[in-house]
Amino acid sequence: MSETPFTADLVLTGGTVVTGKTRYRADIAIKDGLIALLGKPETMPAAREIVDVSGKFLLPGAIDMHVHFREPGYTHKEDWRTGTAAAAMGGTTTVFEMPNTNPPTRSVVELRQKQEAARKAHVDFGLYGLLAEDNIDELTGLIEGGVNAFKCFMGNTFGNLPSPSTGAMLEGFEVIAPSGLRISLHAETASIMAWRQQRLMAAGRNDPLAHIAARPAIVAAEAVARAAELAEWTGARIHVLHISSEAELRPLADAKARGVEITGETCPCYLLLDTRDYARLGSVIRVNPPVREASDSEAIWNALRNGVIDMIATDHAPHTPEEKRKEIIWQADCGFPGVETQMPLMLNEVSRGRISLEHYVRISAENPAMAFGLWPAKGRIEPGAEADIAVVDMERTETIRADALHSRGKITPFEGVSVTGIPIHTLVRGRFVQRDRKLIEQTSGWGRQVTAIQRMPAPNPKHVDQTLAACLQGPVVASGASS
Ligand code: NCD
Ligand code: ZN
Repeated sequence: MSETPFTADLVLTGGTVVTGKTRYRADIAIKDGLIALLGKPETMPAAREIVDVSGKFLLPGAIDMHVHFREPGYTHKEDWRTGTAAAAMGGTTTVFEMPNTNPPTRSVVELRQKQEAARKAHVDFGLYGLLAEDNIDELTGLIEGGVNAFKCFMGNTFGNLPSPSTGAMLEGFEVIAPSGLRISLHAETASIMAWRQQRLMAAGRNDPLAHIAARPAIVAAEAVARAAELAEWTGARIHVLHISSEAELRPLADAKARGVEITGETCPCYLLLDTRDYARLGSVIRVNPPVREASDSEAIWNALRNGVIDMIATDHAPHTPEEKRKEIIWQADCGFPGVETQMPLMLNEVSRGRISLEHYVRISAENPAMAFGLWPAKGRIEPGAEADIAVVDMERTETIRADALHSRGKITPFEGVSVTGIPIHTLVRGRFVQRDRKLIEQTSGWGRQVTAIQRMPAPNPKHVDQTLAACLQGPVVASGASS
């Protein structure tokens, strides 16, 4: 029973493969960017290169559904080369990039511009198209033009894109639903925030905690509940970005229980920081939605453990130190870089016993791959899958320093934090993009846009006869049958 012999491009020998369920010792043979074989050392084919990873863990590379790479338009903060370099250094092999660039990714014209900018990428990527008040007529073009998902800013944040009214959102959901593409939501309700911020400013509140006062958790919880109703009605598939509060968990869990196709993410800042850090960090901590109470962090940890929250993302949102450090909180740009520090910060929590390495693989790779149609090509280490791998040293300790980050946003609330558990190599489709903690510069351009490998069918649209498009055709004649 001899098989056709082949020469592998690369064999990783001596490591421990981690899946969402278990871990086991196996060598990995890689050929043409794919995992060709897993097995004992003696079963490995001849290889052009053999790399010893004894004592290290082999994780599917992280898949980060939430990064802002700023190009075109804000390249003093980041560009596609620096952003994806940061990803490569952080063990992240696929990123989905947000449309609040300048111009925003609002039609196929800007989508082509974004694809052009992304040609410098070190890692694979998906591209978000915008769903806003003023581009409903562009959505079909964006779908046909090859966006991988949509982003809807229900509330203002960096870029100040006009958040859609519930009316525009409903039509947007109707148009996108049949494509099966997921709509990711910045779930904060604009009108509540605008009202409160104006009242707080008038009262002279300029301190960092005024930021939370303007955006209490009800802002997020109300938005999640409303979006879930629209998703259930239209059959649109949705994703709640950056869950920051305990209050969002109830509408999220309720919607899941009703069968709404909804997923949720949180980010390291909501797990690891809370209101006690505002005095120390000042305006650096400003992010939308805000970092909240310790009790919120605890609830988010629990939701991550029990599956109500599906995944970890970063909301990598780089700004310069000057843009972050402001006396008046309303003037500080919101967000901070995260794509390079997510894996070390979370592996540090694995080291501390807060979650298992297997659970980390589920939330960082498997679940995002499944939710956004990348599974089974990405998100797992199995024969036939793309060889996107983070080789992790769980013994290695580093200290996070903004100056050492590959992002242009050289400021982080995690400055000086010591982390144990470091990705020491990153492979994207079989090629090292980071090796021994060094970026492989020549891999700029190796990253490519993911195709919707598994174009998922839309979940049960319930009210297709009542969509705006259907109603615009003329009156619907009652059939007599009760519905
Ligand atoms: C993000 C940014 O800077 O683009 N900022 C943030 O505070 N999170 C936008 C966003 O994701 O809301
Ligand atoms: Zn956001």
